[in-house]
Amino acid sequence: MARRKIIAGNWKMNMTPSEAVELINTLKPLVATEDADVVFCVPAIDIIPAMEAAKGSNINIGAENMYFEEKGAYTGEISPAMLTDVGVKYVIIGHSERREYFAETDETVNKKVLKAFEHGITPIICCGESLTQREQGVTIDWIRQQIKIAFLNVTADQAKTAVIAYEPIWAIGTGKVATTEQAQEVCAAIRACIKEIYDEATAEAIRIQYGGSVSAASAPELFAQPDIDGGLVGGAALKPDFGKIVNYK
Ligand code: 13P
Repeated sequence: MARRKIIAGNWKMNMTPSEAVELINTLKPLVATEDADVVFCVPAIDIIPAMEAAKGSNINIGAENMYFEEKGAYTGEISPAMLTDVGVKYVIIGHSERREYFAETDETVNKKVLKAFEHGITPIICCGESLTQREQGVTIDWIRQQIKIAFLNVTADQAKTAVIAYEPIWAIGTGKVATTEQAQEVCAAIRACIKEIYDEATAEAIRIQYGGSVSAASAPELFAQPDIDGGLVGGAALKPDFGKIVNYK
């Protein structure tokens, strides 16, 4: 069975709540499609107004992060129950910016992934290599390690519903998109790794996105690759161009 595409925007630390409402109202008609799941992952404070603005449309509102504890003395963090209480179904876990600036590790990513599943939230699990790692030829080894740790103690049934975002760090916000061949090669390696950990059925079901300078121009070829099931889009998700990316065909 063909996997359904999933095209997600990662707003990062952009858009105040009022700007978020305005952007969603602009994008709503442009991202309408029945062919793919469309997700806007927005800053925590934007989630409630974004949900309200997206009502009646095909836009799903997701979070950009979440903590792995249930509740308690964790100043500044957002719990899974806070997200599900307002209807959030997707959360980005382990974005490279969180790993770089907020000390996230493969271990905290794994804890968050397990917690998201426990609460019925679909994690969009990020992985990706640095430019140095690519140049040293260790990309696939590195990504396999990230994936193996992220999925520790995750069941096959859970893994089938997960989303993985392959985002080469050197391609994020640089305008330097990976070539279609580079993106497909790593996404295929990720699927092979999932097959090794679980089985063929899980590998065939899991959805793998490419992220890193995705644009209306690069999306059609990227998303046509056999192992690329959509994209995680930063900069271009804040513009009307996102409509073209969603309707890439
Ligand atoms: P850009 O699309 O701006 O390169 O960002 C990609 C990204 O980090 C999405 O999570």
